[in-house]
Amino acid sequence: MQVATTILQARALFDVLPRPLGFVPTMGALHEGHLALVRRAREESTTVGASIFINPLQFGANEDLEKYPRDIEADRAKFSAAGVDVLFLPNQAVMYPPDFSTAVDAGEMGTRFEGAARPTHFRGVTTVVSKLLNIVRPDTLYLGQKDAQQTAVLRRMIRDLDIPTHVTIVPTEREADGLALSSRNVYLSVEERQAAPSLHHALQALRMAMQMGKSKADAVAAARTRLDPLAQLDYLDVVDANTFAPIDVLSPPAFVIGAARFGSTRLLDNLWIE
Ligand code: PAF
Repeated sequence: MQVATTILQARALFDVLPRPLGFVPTMGALHEGHLALVRRAREESTTVGASIFINPLQFGANEDLEKYPRDIEADRAKFSAAGVDVLFLPNQAVMYPPDFSTAVDAGEMGTRFEGAARPTHFRGVTTVVSKLLNIVRPDTLYLGQKDAQQTAVLRRMIRDLDIPTHVTIVPTEREADGLALSSRNVYLSVEERQAAPSLHHALQALRMAMQMGKSKADAVAAARTRLDPLAQLDYLDVVDANTFAPIDVLSPPAFVIGAARFGSTRLLDNLWIE
């Protein structure tokens, strides 16, 4: 695996390696969910690129930027073993020099749900991913379904800005008890870890209740009873997969989405409705 730390080095490698080029952007703290993206990219691409960059722009003032898990040596080894050809590993000065001043606005979709809870989050995601796509210029961008709203926001950005990159969404990897893999799961205490799969169970209950003909309000009420008492629910809803606007019927493509806090750790999950 070759490692590029500057934009010039990255372009020099990505511009000459054989196509198609699949690209997996990450913030490190790699788990099986990230590696599933690499495996899919490896199956479908001649060259696989990945990046690790903890993007400060997508963290709010009181969020976990400082304590976000970091283990760069382990991440490098995992990417290398999974078959990444080129790792782009920029530091903050490379991505955001002191006079950096432009941002990509995620529009209305970026103000809902996660955007309401974290007002500057999607603007940070769209800004860094548009930079990464301009640097790497991949044929296909691989994103995890776990961050469903992020996938919708980025697909829209790529469409609206005519970026010549295809997007592939890879299904969420889960623990045996249903908990979606996330870099933030390491923050959970033993009790919170036991409670956390109840978010997934609540989403399944919501989907089943709506499939059985209940109204969304009744289905959400039924789903809430599946949450562990430790869960502090932020939202449970059903949204159009392309716009993330709430919908009242399970008409595909849609997501059943949820977010809840377990202690100080905020977890997200979703089910894809095809
Ligand atoms: O999903 C993530 O890890 C990040 O939001 C991403 C896409 C790498 C942008 O920083």
